[in-house]
Amino acid sequence: MRIMKALVVFDSNFGNTRLIAENIVKQLGKGTELVSAQGFKNSNLTGVKLLVVGSPINEWNPTEHTKKFLSLLKKGQLKGIKAAAFDTRVRLFGGNAAKKIAEALQNAGAEIIVAPQGFYVTGEDGPLADGEIDRSSGWVKQIKKAFKGLPTD
Ligand SMILES: Cc1cc2nc3c(=O)[nH]c(=O)nc-3n(C[C@H](O)[C@H](O)[C@H](O)COP(=O)(O)O)c2cc1C
Repeated sequence: MRIMKALVVFDSNFGNTRLIAENIVKQLGKGTELVSAQGFKNSNLTGVKLLVVGSPINEWNPTEHTKKFLSLLKKGQLKGIKAAAFDTRVRLFGGNAAKKIAEALQNAGAEIIVAPQGFYVTGEDGPLADGEIDRSSGWVKQIKKAFKGLPTD
């Protein structure tokens, strides 16, 4: 099995986005690291082939920490890196932070390989809606399929 280096960057106010991020790390398997948007350093990207970024929606946007992380990325820095973005959200509040994150990653040179995804929480501080962890596992399957050369199980 080919070991591929993947990085999951997340922010989380109440822990729900963290739970999704941790499941994504688990599903991606060996070689995947988890780092908070706040703790991110450019050196975390060394050797990374796949980057997944997730944030809660705060006022229709990614969180401040997520925006700060995205602003650290230099133009073209993500060239050759495949990427995917997700957010956590409340039904009816609106907003699409995942799409905005994906656009920023693309502007930094990444290739977005699956549609940005939103996962639902049942209230501002959670918990996650039923089945959302499983749905994130399904999303990772799509990512693996799109990322040629990655094992799918
Ligand atoms: C200040 C604030 C603003 C928010 N704005 C939105 C919003 O515009 N759209 C939305 O769907 N959810 C919004 N939410 C709810 C968040 O999506 C929810 O708190 C988040 O998904 C929980 O994830 P976390 O536990 O990782 O922080 C907001 C929450 C807070 C605290």
